[in-house]
Amino acid sequence: MKIRDAIIEDAIKIFKIEQNVFKDHWALKSIKSEFLKPNHSFISVLEIENNIIGYIFQRIIYNQNHIINLAIDVPFQHKGYGKFLLSKILEKNSHDTDVFLEVKEANFPAIKLYSDLGFEEIKKKDRYYSDGSNAVFMLKKNK
Ligand SMILES: CC(C)(COP(=O)(O)OP(=O)(O)OC[C@H]1O[C@@H](n2cnc3c(N)ncnc32)[C@H](O)[C@@H]1OP(=O)(O)O)[C@@H](O)C(=O)NCCC(=O)NCCS
Repeated sequence: MKIRDAIIEDAIKIFKIEQNVFKDHWALKSIKSEFLKPNHSFISVLEIENNIIGYIFQRIIYNQNHIINLAIDVPFQHKGYGKFLLSKILEKNSHDTDVFLEVKEANFPAIKLYSDLGFEEIKKKDRYYSDGSNAVFMLKKNK
C-alpha cells in the first residue's frame, strides 16, 4: 500500500472511482483542471499493488488547506483505508495550516472519520448541495 502524488494520467481512474462512489460526482474535466493548478492544488492517490483505490484533493493557499475531495472505491471502503490516507496527509501538512472541509450532513461515515481525526464542526448550511442536502463545515486547527 502506497500514497503517491497523482499525475494527470491518473485522472481517468479517479473519474471511474468518482462515478462509483458519488451520485453527484465530479466531471472528468473538473478532475483534470485540478492538475493544472500546481501552485495550490495537491492530489494524492492511495494504491494497492499499483491499483488506485482512493484519492484526496487538497487546495492549499497560504495557511489554509481545503480538502475538496476524498474517496475510497466501494469494494475497499470501511477497511481503514480512508483513515490511513487522511491521517498520513494530515501528518504531512499539519505544520502550519488549518485544514477545512465540508461534508453532507447525512454522510455519517465521513463525519465520524473526520471527528476521529480531530476535525470539529464550525458551521452548517442548509440546502447547500445541488441535491438539497445540508452541509457541515469542519475545521482541524493547526496546533
Ligand atoms: C468516507 C470514506 C472516505 C471513508 O473511508 P473508508 O476507508 O471507507 O473509512 P475507514 O474504513 O477508514 O473508516 C474510518 C471511520 O469511518 C467510519 N466508517 C467508515 N465507513 C463506515 C460505514 N460504512 N458505516 C459507519 N461508519 C463508517 C468508522 O467510524 C471508521 O472508524 P472505525 O473503523 O475506527 O470505527 C469512504 O467511505 C468513501 O469514499 N465514501 C464515499 C465518498 C465520500 O463520502 N467521501 C467523503 C466526502 S466528504
